[in-house]
Formats: sequence, structure tokens, C-alpha cells
Amino acid sequence: MRNPTTRRGLFAAGATLAVAGAGLAIAHRPATESTIEPAAHYAPLTPCTTKKITPEQMEGPFYRPSSPQRIDLVESGISGALLTLTGQVMTKDCRPVPGALLDFWQADRHGDYDNGGYRLRGHQFADVDGCYRLQTIVPRSYDGTGGFRTPHIHLHVQRPGGKLLVTQLYFPGAIKAYGMDIDGTNKVDFLFDPELLVQLKAVEGNSFRACFDFVIE
Ligand SMILES: [Fe+2]
Repeated sequence: MRNPTTRRGLFAAGATLAVAGAGLAIAHRPATESTIEPAAHYAPLTPCTTKKITPEQMEGPFYRPSSPQRIDLVESGISGALLTLTGQVMTKDCRPVPGALLDFWQADRHGDYDNGGYRLRGHQFADVDGCYRLQTIVPRSYDGTGGFRTPHIHLHVQRPGGKLLVTQLYFPGAIKAYGMDIDGTNKVDFLFDPELLVQLKAVEGNSFRACFDFVIE
């Protein structure tokens, strides 16, 4: 997100250059470092383009309320391909949503949910810039009562006092974990939505970094 002070700085720089130009035309005032330096130090503004609300998906049968507040789900006894997921919660007009709730739950490396406890479950709140970070593992695909499921992470996203978004995130085939062909399993999952694919950022051995930005009402 662009800092508002950057906009003020750019405006001030432009004003300085305009004044400097006027000065040169009228009084032949020489350009000084202070009149030419600022504009070169600010990148061009990237205009916000209106964003589409993140698609909703079914909650499924495995949600449990009152998950612990934590960003790291890799507690003792959890093993698998490590996944660091980061991103931002924002509005359609690109404003960050500080304090947004993100409540995650997922299957483990065997495709099983912990339905008696809170393994691989946790909630957190976005920071002042609407940013979040989740440390977890890649879940495995599974055969559920409703049909075959490709690897996915369930979550709730909600601005303070706002409408609840229930959705799921999916993975690209470049994530190689547990011998899965995720491109193949994505094709046969009845809920898979390519708009909900995380973006793979880095692969380090059996660890993956990915990002996904949420757009909410
Ligand atoms: Fe699921």
C-alpha cells in the first residue's frame, strides 16, 4: 500500500519543480539540489483499480468455533511440507482492513481434520496495514462425504463488525507435496475455483511461500 506521505511528497516535489521552472523563466534562478532532487526519489503512483470481491465457498462440515489465536499452526506433532501464506485484506477500492479476522482450518498431511481438538486450526487479526501471515503445512487431498477434495484451506474473513466471508484457498501444481499432482486434483474437485488459487512465491526444498489478498465488502 502506498503511504499517503508519499503522495504528499510527490505533490510537494511537483510544486517545487513548478516554482523552480517559474523562477528560471523570470529571474534565471539556478536550479539547486533542493529543487531537482525530490521528483527523482518517488516512484510513479500506481492507481488503484477496483477489485473484485473474493468469491465465497461453502463452509463444509469441519468448522469448529473458538479456535486458538495464533499465526503458527505447526505445533508439536504436526509434520508435512511447510507453507508460509501471506497477504492483505482490503476493500474493493484498495483500502486495507486493519483488524480483520482470519480464521483458518485445514486437513493435515494425511487428509484428516482434527474434529475433537484444534490441530491445524487458528485465528488471527490483520495488522494496521491489513496484512496477515499464516505458518502451516500443505494439506493433502481427501475423499469426503460430499466428494473428492483437492488440497485446500478453509477460512473465514471478516472486518470488525462486518459481513462474514466464508471461502477456501487452493494451490497451483507447482506445489509438490506428498507426491500429489495438484493440477490434476484441482480439475476433478467439484468446488475448485481458479480465482482462489494462492500465488506461489518461492520453493525452498520442501517448504513453500505463497500469497493471497482478500477483497471484502
Ligand atoms: Fe475441507
